Amino acid sequence: MKGLVVAIDGPSGVGKSTVGKAVAARLGLPYLDTGAMYRAVGLAVKRKGIALPLEDREAVVAVASHVDVRVTGSAADARTWLNGEDVSREIRTPEISAYASAVSAVPGVRRRLAGMQRSLALEGGGVLEGRDIGTKVVPETPHKFFLTATVEVRARRRFAELSARGAPQTFAQVLSDMEARDHADSTRADSPLLDDGTYARVDTSALSVEEVVDRVLSAVGRGVQPPG
Ligand code: DC
Repeated sequence: MKGLVVAIDGPSGVGKSTVGKAVAARLGLPYLDTGAMYRAVGLAVKRKGIALPLEDREAVVAVASHVDVRVTGSAADARTWLNGEDVSREIRTPEISAYASAVSAVPGVRRRLAGMQRSLALEGGGVLEGRDIGTKVVPETPHKFFLTATVEVRARRRFAELSARGAPQTFAQVLSDMEARDHADSTRADSPLLDDGTYARVDTSALSVEEVVDRVLSAVGRGVQPPG
């Protein structure tokens, strides 16, 4: 590993992106939202006319291996590209959340994306956020954080976010989608979301974003040996 790698894992809506971006900006490290890569593959699969639930896994892997997925920019201006098209906004819909969760359970998709993520992390360090960063993508980093919050708190945050964008969803719908995604992401056979005991756990339910960021930064600071 050439640079510092900080892994931030946890369920959806827990604040990984907000915290990850702030930590990356403060440490001057690249920021990598790995969920955005699964979302871009999910969008590509949907555009091919493949419906949920995914039945033909080979067709999904075929789509995933022929698309060019890139994430660029720093924490302040991160963008996601699918075959050269900026899909940063289009991947943030509830429908693409469901597609992303579904494609992320396919081992061939995971192998490809986790391989790309690992290469990016080893090249120049970074703050990586996702579900399996500390267990599969860069398990050797000592800086691993597992963020948690109750599903109600997370659904409330997501509902506020979607409402601010004018998305027509009820709170009950957001809550039930989140429960379904939690279940799918933590029970899939390949690289499920799991605190394997190697993480520092941070319960964010009653903390502000700044408090979570401070905890992460001070833990990283304690773990980094001063030079010389
Ligand atoms: O973090 P997110 O909600 O944007 O992620 C979208 C989906 O991608 C999520 O349901 C689980 C999956 N994912 C994953 O399996 N592994 C990762 N490292 C990141 C995301």
